[in-house]
Amino acid sequence: MTHTDINQGRRRLLVAATSVVGAAGVAAVAVPFLNSWSPSARALAAGAPVEVNISNVEPGQLIRVIWRGKPVWVVNRTEEMLANLPANDGSLRDPASAVVEQQPTYAQNAHRSRDPKYLVLVGICTHLGCSPTYRPEVAPEDLGADWKGGWYCPCHGSRFDLAGRVYKNVPAATNLVVPPYYFKDDNTILIGEDGNVA
Ligand code: FES
Repeated sequence: MTHTDINQGRRRLLVAATSVVGAAGVAAVAVPFLNSWSPSARALAAGAPVEVNISNVEPGQLIRVIWRGKPVWVVNRTEEMLANLPANDGSLRDPASAVVEQQPTYAQNAHRSRDPKYLVLVGICTHLGCSPTYRPEVAPEDLGADWKGGWYCPCHGSRFDLAGRVYKNVPAATNLVVPPYYFKDDNTILIGEDGNVA
């Protein structure tokens, strides 16, 4: 083995060692980044508002987002869904949203929303906190001929209509909660703040 061979071998070893140090360096940089990211994640969980793009929500479709650790639903209600709401009134416990804690004042109306088309609800059953199942179809066999779409809670059978209003004779006593929200523009809802619009 010549002197040159030994030097080349050592150089290869040095290159390999440098690569390992480089990888460790990347890992070390990644940790402070994650640390600096965590507080905003915590802030989100603690209650920062959540922006929702509704431009791709199809008529009749429900999308879910998480706000303050809770599921929030946004539903694009069709004309037919809205037209069917008044027919439920006689079967509901609180058809006029008289229990004020369940919604902001701008949702204390027949459709329980700012814009009739878009319903925004906290997706938690007001009985014991399960997440009800979206059942938008009309008169499915298991829910009966009078069913005009809404939510069915699989835990103890509570039912809610497509305005989140609770039916009579079910375990849940109150309508589903409407969170504070407002439209930032035609395609964006901000959940968690009332905005300036009454
Ligand atoms: S938690 Fe929904 S009916 Fe009991």
